[in-house]
Amino acid sequence: MVGELLAGLALVNLDREGVVMRVIVTWDYDDMSRQGASIVADRIRRKPDLVLGLATGTTMVGLYREVVELYRRGLLDMAEVTTFNLDEYVGLNPQDPRSFRYFMQEHLFGKTNIDPRRIHLLPSQLNPQDAEQVAADYEKEIEKAGGIDLQILGLGRNGHIGFNEPGAPLESRTRVVDLDRETVEINSQPFLPLRVPRQSITMGIKTIMRAKEILLLASGAEKALALARALEGPVTPEVPASVLQLHPAVTVVADREAASHLNSSLCQVRVG
Ligand code: GLP
Repeated sequence: MVGELLAGLALVNLDREGVVMRVIVTWDYDDMSRQGASIVADRIRRKPDLVLGLATGTTMVGLYREVVELYRRGLLDMAEVTTFNLDEYVGLNPQDPRSFRYFMQEHLFGKTNIDPRRIHLLPSQLNPQDAEQVAADYEKEIEKAGGIDLQILGLGRNGHIGFNEPGAPLESRTRVVDLDRETVEINSQPFLPLRVPRQSITMGIKTIMRAKEILLLASGAEKALALARALEGPVTPEVPASVLQLHPAVTVVADREAASHLNSSLCQVRVG
């Protein structure tokens, strides 16, 4: 039995120049969600006033469902947690079901005891002339909170993290960006015939990298190539998630399909 193995299929340690990335490969999406939630819950129990960076998207639905379940069963108290969301579309009414504010309310905020005063979201409506100030203020708020303790991330099929699309500078901070056409297509699918906006405001790569710990979740075959490029390819702005190889404390929880392109010869695979 592998000590660190929580309940997944395999534990992989990718060792790159002394930086070990923990990769937990799970049986399926539900197992990924449970594993992810147990890591989040563990960090909150150790530090009840945890500063938590939050992501959205279909990958996160199961994770938040499991976190809510722990809260409902009295196993998790989120009253002192501070949250910062990664990104938001620009040009949507906050009540719009496509907005990330709406998503968070539906899946997490409205179902736990997170204090609304400790929730930080990027605005979906902002004047272009205010964008720089809004972004700078968000960075300051993160700093004021003591920095992000645990940043949750999903993965775009093109390797994006947050809305840092391929080519985003590794030094980037919170800012307004144009989305790739492919991202707009993919992210519009749950809302068809409505489309998601073509611009967003997102934490930058540098902002993400400053988090003390990162938890990346990936599910499904359509993420397999992006995950392999992120974990095993060269570190390049063309694959924004590849920068995570340089972070000292990353845990990846991926289901079998998402992990299917990982080259096990580069990894130490231990199956429990
Ligand atoms: C969006 C979000 C990302 C998220 C990605 C994956 O583009 N901005 O933060 O990681 O989608 O989404 P999904 O989980 O729906 O595949």
